[in-house]
Amino acid sequence: MVPLPPIELADEAATADLARRMAGWLKPGDVVALRGDLGAGKTSFARALIRALSDEGREVPSPTFTLVQSYETSAGPIHHFDLYRIQAPDELTEIGWDEALGGGIVLVEWPERAGNFLPETRLDVTLGFGLGPEARIATLRPGPGWMAAHGGIPALQTGRPGE
Ligand SMILES: Nc1ncnc2c1ncn2[C@@H]1O[C@H](COP(=O)(O)OP(=O)(O)OP(=O)(O)O)[C@@H](O)[C@H]1O
Ligand SMILES: [Mg+2]
Repeated sequence: MVPLPPIELADEAATADLARRMAGWLKPGDVVALRGDLGAGKTSFARALIRALSDEGREVPSPTFTLVQSYETSAGPIHHFDLYRIQAPDELTEIGWDEALGGGIVLVEWPERAGNFLPETRLDVTLGFGLGPEARIATLRPGPGWMAAHGGIPALQTGRPGE
C-alpha cells in the first residue's frame, strides 16, 4: 500500500472536516480501517462521518463495549466496529462481521485485531499525534483494488488550490 501525502489536522474540527469529505465518496461495500493509538481520534472521525450521512445531532457512541454500532444513513447501512476488546479474530463471526462486510460501509477501529478477516481492498486511515494536544496527522493508504473501484481519491487536503 502506497501512502498518500499526510494531511495535517490542526484540531478536532479539521478531523471532522476530513471525515465529512470522505463521507461524500464512500459506498456500500467499502471498508475503512481507522488506525492509531488510544485517543488518536478514530471515534471522533467515525462520528463526524456518520453524522454527515444522517443527522448532525445524531448520537454516535463509541462501540468500545458493544463492539459494533450500526446506522441507517443516506449512503446505506454503516457498521462501526471497535475491535480493541476482542481476544481473537474468530470472535468476529459472533458480532456480525461477515454480514456487515456484505451489507454496507464498514468503519473499523483497531482493525489489526481482525487478522486475516480484514479485507485487502480497503482504505487505511492512520491518525497520528502532531505537535500540540489537538494536532493530528492523517495518512491514507488505499489497498489493492481500492483506486480502481473508486477512480482514485478526491482531493482531501484542506485549502488546496481549486477547492
Ligand atoms: N485533531 C483532533 N482530532 C480528533 N480528536 C481530537 C483532536 N484534537 C483533540 N481531540 C480529542 O482527542 C480525543 C479523541 O478521542 P477518540 O475517542 O476519538 O479516540 P480513539 O482514537 O477512538 O481512541 P480509542 O482507541 O480509545 O477508541 C477526544 O477527546 C477529542 O476531543
Ligand atoms: Mg475509539
